[in-house]
Amino acid sequence: MTHANILAVSGDGIGPEIMVEARKVADWFVARRGLDLHFEEALVGGVAIEAIGRPIAEETIEQARRADAVLFACAGGPDWDFLEPGKRAGDGLLRLRRELNLFANLRPVKMFDALVDSSALKPEAVRGVDLVIIRELVGGIYFGEPRGIEPLGNHDQRGFNTETYSSPEVRRVGDVAFRLARARGGHVHSVDKANVLEASQVWRTAMTEFHASTHSDVPLHHMLVDNCALQIVRRPSQFDVMVMGNMFGDILSDCAAALTGSIGMLPSASIGAAREDGRYHGLYEPIHGTAPDIAGQGIANPSAMILSLAMLFDYSLGLREEAAMITAAIERVLADGLRTADLARPGEASVSTSTFGDAVVAALG
Ligand code: IPM
Ligand code: MG
Repeated sequence: MTHANILAVSGDGIGPEIMVEARKVADWFVARRGLDLHFEEALVGGVAIEAIGRPIAEETIEQARRADAVLFACAGGPDWDFLEPGKRAGDGLLRLRRELNLFANLRPVKMFDALVDSSALKPEAVRGVDLVIIRELVGGIYFGEPRGIEPLGNHDQRGFNTETYSSPEVRRVGDVAFRLARARGGHVHSVDKANVLEASQVWRTAMTEFHASTHSDVPLHHMLVDNCALQIVRRPSQFDVMVMGNMFGDILSDCAAALTGSIGMLPSASIGAAREDGRYHGLYEPIHGTAPDIAGQGIANPSAMILSLAMLFDYSLGLREEAAMITAAIERVLADGLRTADLARPGEASVSTSTFGDAVVAALG
């Protein structure tokens, strides 16, 4: 029997509403498949700022370390996103990623057949798209030093951040990408801005050398980030596994999300090095944010959250079959025509977050 301790973080905005639906799915596996899942809850983000004055408590970081995995909804909102560095809502999540050394963020972009007409792109361009963006998550400009804001007098300021990558940082995330591509029988695009940035030159050199020494059986292509943005919307089917630095991954994964019909469909897994049993300590979260504009209305799409639970099952608990069951259940619900508001086309009826979640549970069997 699988025992697991999971730290659940509902966070802000639509977070609590979508987390409820993921927990319903988890409960089904407890009741019907005999999984022994123990959930603890913690506050991160704006809710933590309101409660304790900081976006995350040290104890929460320890709790996350002790847990087998963290299931994270979303954190942030206009009230807390623009405070001073270290105190912003998103800083709670950034600290979790960094303290747990979750250096690889996997963002699968898989087109469900039932949604080809909901995509921003033409059906023939997006049908069958199945790619994975691997975003380096604990380095690059997000964490580079020096960083700061200095006064220039007369109310003028200068803001600065540092984009930085070292060869070992590139190799460890490259390793995740090459292994995944090999397992999928696919290929890797490494994305950078090596025509301008030194950090990207190191990235490209390290990726090329590591590929030649360790993974030369997996086809590798290099692509500049601006061209990559163009190619994602022009011909997404050319991509399989894509690996890139932190900020490029942040931007291009939102861009790729538009392919699938809604950013509300996309889960992610943030993992570190594999443990001996081949499983990962990880944090699993939708790639969308808190959507404050629709929070509390019960209309958010819980798919990305539920699919994040599926990734947790797969990567942290080794429950591959159960993970596939969850994906298949979502697929069935979509094929049956159920749509949350973000997916409904003009004139099409939409269902609530909880109706959609209940349908996913029903589709499990
Ligand atoms: C994401 C988000 C976060 C990021 C924010 C909330 C800090 O946009 O996970 O893509 O920039 O990494
Ligand atoms: Mg983002």
